[in-house]
Amino acid sequence: MCHEPRLLIVGLGLIGGSLAAALRVSGFKGQITACDPNANEVALGVEMGLINAGGTQLSQLLDGVSMVVLAVPVLAMERVMQELSEGLSAAATNVVITDVGSTKATIRECAERVFGCVPPNIVLGHPIAGSEKSGVAAATPALYANHKVILTPEPNVNAEALARVKVLWQACGAEVLQMSVERHDQVLARTSHLPHLLAFSLVDTLARQDERLDIFRYAAGGFRDFTRIAGSDPVMWRDIFIANRDAVLSSLDDFEAGLARLRQAVESGDSDALIATFDRASHARHYFDTLLNKTSYQAEYHMQPQGKVTYRVSPGGQAQGRLRVPGDKSMSHRSIMLGALAEGVTEVKGFLEGEDSLATLQAFREMGVAIEGPHQGRVTIHGVGMHGLKAPAGPLYVGNSGTAMRLFAGLLAGQAFDSELTGDESLTKRPMGRVADPLRLMGATIETAEGGRPPLSIKGGAPLKGIFYDMPMASAQVKSCLLLAGLYAEGETRVREPAPTRDHTERMLNGFGYVVSREGDTCWLQGGGKLTAGPIDVPSDISSATFFLVAAAITPGADITLEHVGINPTRIGVINILTLMGADLVLEDEREVGGEPVADIRIRYVPLKGIDIPVDQVPLAIDEFPALFVAAANAQGTTRLRGAEELRVKESDRIQAMADGLAVLGVEHTVVEDGIDIVGNGNDQVASYGGGRIDSLGDHRIAMSFAIAALRASDTIVIDDCANVATSFPDFVALAQRIGMNVSVESANDV
Ligand code: S3P
Repeated sequence: MCHEPRLLIVGLGLIGGSLAAALRVSGFKGQITACDPNANEVALGVEMGLINAGGTQLSQLLDGVSMVVLAVPVLAMERVMQELSEGLSAAATNVVITDVGSTKATIRECAERVFGCVPPNIVLGHPIAGSEKSGVAAATPALYANHKVILTPEPNVNAEALARVKVLWQACGAEVLQMSVERHDQVLARTSHLPHLLAFSLVDTLARQDERLDIFRYAAGGFRDFTRIAGSDPVMWRDIFIANRDAVLSSLDDFEAGLARLRQAVESGDSDALIATFDRASHARHYFDTLLNKTSYQAEYHMQPQGKVTYRVSPGGQAQGRLRVPGDKSMSHRSIMLGALAEGVTEVKGFLEGEDSLATLQAFREMGVAIEGPHQGRVTIHGVGMHGLKAPAGPLYVGNSGTAMRLFAGLLAGQAFDSELTGDESLTKRPMGRVADPLRLMGATIETAEGGRPPLSIKGGAPLKGIFYDMPMASAQVKSCLLLAGLYAEGETRVREPAPTRDHTERMLNGFGYVVSREGDTCWLQGGGKLTAGPIDVPSDISSATFFLVAAAITPGADITLEHVGINPTRIGVINILTLMGADLVLEDEREVGGEPVADIRIRYVPLKGIDIPVDQVPLAIDEFPALFVAAANAQGTTRLRGAEELRVKESDRIQAMADGLAVLGVEHTVVEDGIDIVGNGNDQVASYGGGRIDSLGDHRIAMSFAIAALRASDTIVIDDCANVATSFPDFVALAQRIGMNVSVESANDV
């Protein structure tokens, strides 16, 4: 709730009027006055009940104000600030001044000219909301609801002033973000000013043609959608283009270059170029929709709570059927990365259309790679060669994915351009020193945030040298990062792993004709080679299959076959561990597809027993432990895991997150630093544990594991914060329902 005793809005148009309207609806108790050169607008504002009073003379309205909002056109700002500086008494230091101008650098300059510098009580801001309508008559209380307001405070800003402006906008239902003046102006030039310029220009061009009446008469949805904003206030937009000249010109240059390329493609009938551009644009548009719809995609500066998804799983149910789970996540990331760097066209089948791999795909589009799809798991990548990537316009956002961030770090360290890698809130907490440190040894210039956390800033053009790196932890991500950097390094890059980890990078590089050698625990490659495109068939992800393997392993009467699952020897820890626990699990129709072993896995219920998990299986089942803990809770006797400290730095601290959930269900367990003991209560006849409400902490695998656990619970299990299941397994709920589980999805607000 906003508690300003008296708010003065200078400029009572659509923006200022809607601010008053939204505050009124929020229950704002203070006085709202307005100043506008047009007395009719002020009178209308009073009549509409938006403002208490107002006038046309600013100097007469300043008594007792606590906050002034400048909502006048950009070029009128300086005059208004001048009047404010003369009219506000020197004692009024508690008065906060803010604005709503669409450009920030020029307004900051106004303040500097008027006040000598931007005083600490001025907080410049910009609500990203509006409409083509103008005037207070168009004011609406909903204008700012769920819209963003960008504040661009100066370093000397008064913290209380900043907080009060934030509260003002939050009271209107807006989401408040902060960024620098410079960044604001660049971002807005591209996302708002350029489209307005184009809309004005298109309508003007057509309106001047002789047959304009016919053009407008027959213009259908496309024209209307594209040109709606050409009806906007001309004065306001004139001011914006004058004020944000440089940033607009630079975005116009980029646009003209793109238009020239398309013109050329149309002229020469270059269907490949047309398809590549349209496909890129169409996918980018869908991707941005996802961003705007607030699924788990969130650009770094949009960071905020996720769209909440809750699973409610009724106890019991069956585990029956034949299923195919989506493509392997590790291989999907790598297929895009290597396909982009290859010479020629790479056709991928079985690509995982999960949010993480889609973020990787989008990042390469942002580096100029033409990628078609995905359409039902098929992706076509038009490789640009080892040195063909282009500098992205902004930070590359890799969502929830540690794999993407670490592999990208290696790959980007070898590029000629600077880059920045960001991710979601969970990723921002994960350790990146494990890749930044060895990359620095290779000569890379790479900066992390405090404590070696994301974001990562990578300087382009640093010459890399091959190193021999003895990895302190068994991590395929670190190994892959260094091999990818090694492609660009002088000489040989060697990596020794303390235990075998997934080798998809090595296999796929070999598949692209790039020699990676291995002897025992060490693999290596020579820098400076090239990749040759070839087809990639991504098998189903054994990590996703695991949830259904465990479902069948714990449910009396179960019989499930999972088709076309990747059974790479570095990934089959879950098969080995379940087999040791006594599971009836058989591999059928074993075959090799595109350099990776694949099989159908059939699993039928037999009672499980607790075991000591062999330490050498830990890296081979690293992502499968949350589900295996559920298997352990249903076994007879104790299952003991050690040597698994890496679980603590996954999408959540998976030892603790699982222990907390098991505690809710009433499963006896003991946590140790590098593992856990779980006392199973397996008995065919009765449930193994109770139900309850569990926080998945936004970790997809924790969410899915507890959903499966409900098959043997005595009561409903409710799991919060499940949106991130979409990062690796978008169809999970549908498949779980298909095998006979009683899962439903709810919004957090309904439960
Ligand atoms: C992955 C490696 C593993 C795994 C992750 C995917 C990969 O991480 O947990 O889900 O694709 O290389 P670490 O290498 O850090 O153990």
